[in-house]
Amino acid sequence: MSSNSQWSSRVGFILASAGSAIGLGAIWKFPFWAGANGGAAFIIPYIIFTFTIGVVLVMAEVAIGRKGRGSVVTALRSVGGPWYALMGALGVLTSFVILSYYSVVGGWCVAYLWDAVGGNVTISDPQILKDHFGNLVSNGYLNVGWHFAFLTLTCAVVIGGVEAGIERVSKYLMPMLFILMLAIIVRGLTLPGAWGGVEYLFNFQWENLTSNAILNAMGFTFFSLSLGGGILVTYGSYLPGKTSVPHSSLWIAVLAIQAAILAGLMIMPAVFAFGMEPNGGPGLVFITVPMIFSHVPFGSIFAFFFYVCLLVAALTSAVSLLEVVTAFMQNEWNLSRKKAVTINWVALFLLGSVSALSFGVWSDFTVGGRNFFDLLDYVCTNFMMPFGGLVIATLAGWKAWPVVREQFRIGNNFGPGILKVFHFILAFLAPILVLVAFYQGLFG
Ligand code: TRP
Repeated sequence: MSSNSQWSSRVGFILASAGSAIGLGAIWKFPFWAGANGGAAFIIPYIIFTFTIGVVLVMAEVAIGRKGRGSVVTALRSVGGPWYALMGALGVLTSFVILSYYSVVGGWCVAYLWDAVGGNVTISDPQILKDHFGNLVSNGYLNVGWHFAFLTLTCAVVIGGVEAGIERVSKYLMPMLFILMLAIIVRGLTLPGAWGGVEYLFNFQWENLTSNAILNAMGFTFFSLSLGGGILVTYGSYLPGKTSVPHSSLWIAVLAIQAAILAGLMIMPAVFAFGMEPNGGPGLVFITVPMIFSHVPFGSIFAFFFYVCLLVAALTSAVSLLEVVTAFMQNEWNLSRKKAVTINWVALFLLGSVSALSFGVWSDFTVGGRNFFDLLDYVCTNFMMPFGGLVIATLAGWKAWPVVREQFRIGNNFGPGILKVFHFILAFLAPILVLVAFYQGLFG
């Protein structure tokens, strides 16, 4: 499989990119972040960010990828020159680091799927479920072992290549995930007390709209759209030449938002119905979902299918992260796909294991109160990804705007007005917002 291969269709590209966007960010991170940041006061800024800087940065990444072709480094070099190639390499590093700890959470999904196979996940006692999650993450052997399992699956898909591996998996299992989530939502909403969760999600309260909630919403926008790590540049390079970039990008954003809102609706009503705290942290999804299933006829069968879909959602995102690094090594180091994936398999296993152990034996190692896992997530989400967004915004808004504009025009009849809006967002709005976020992250 050469890195010059293409998606079989526009739909294939959209599904694969949505597969990258929709993952643990939407289903695992969104509910507990929304829970901890005041519900609607987090969700509304997230929606606004997604449809302003989010969509336009997605468009810019895809446009640069299609123009430049090849890995993110190759594409940024050809569109922006040697300095931007270096910035592209930083994107490769970002994707690599994210994948190392993402794979640990992916491992939790494998673990719960394994429990579901044994019929052990439909428990209604919150304390048992909390202890179960706590034991999983603090047991080093278990946590490293499941991380290894998830990482190995990811590597297996990427070795298969873009079309054969990524596109086929996304096409069938993403729609199934949506249907299952809808079914769980219906059950959750009919539990007594569930309405409190809906109110929490949609009842906007001004006093919750803190600068912290807004900044977290921006960080989450980057995370959920897979921005700032070179993924959409890489996927864009496989996009057929005549496809409309803005149209595809809008689809990606709509699907990503829809997944996050559905996940919120799946978790939050149940949290209220079972009398739990909405700011319950990273275990929230893993503790709440089994309780819902314990209130469903044939719950263990539903649970099994749910964890299959959750795993696939996590896998398609992890695959996109690995594809960035693999395409880079193929293009820039002339390695075969197999060799590149194997190197990553070993390196990611080692780095990810440190994250996995940071919940147990190495939990004493902290920087500013964060264990190794939290530290990597903090640095990637608050600094490396927004920095990647800044790089793309300056390249697309200033240096390469004529090239990017020409890419935006393909397949569309845009008047000058809308192109001016895109240009303004890239050249001014996105850089300013990212710089404000940096300032807040460092000194706020
Ligand atoms: N968007 C994915 C999710 O929400 C995670 C992800 C995949 C990602 N690729 C990324 C995050 C690149 C940042 C950068 O689960």
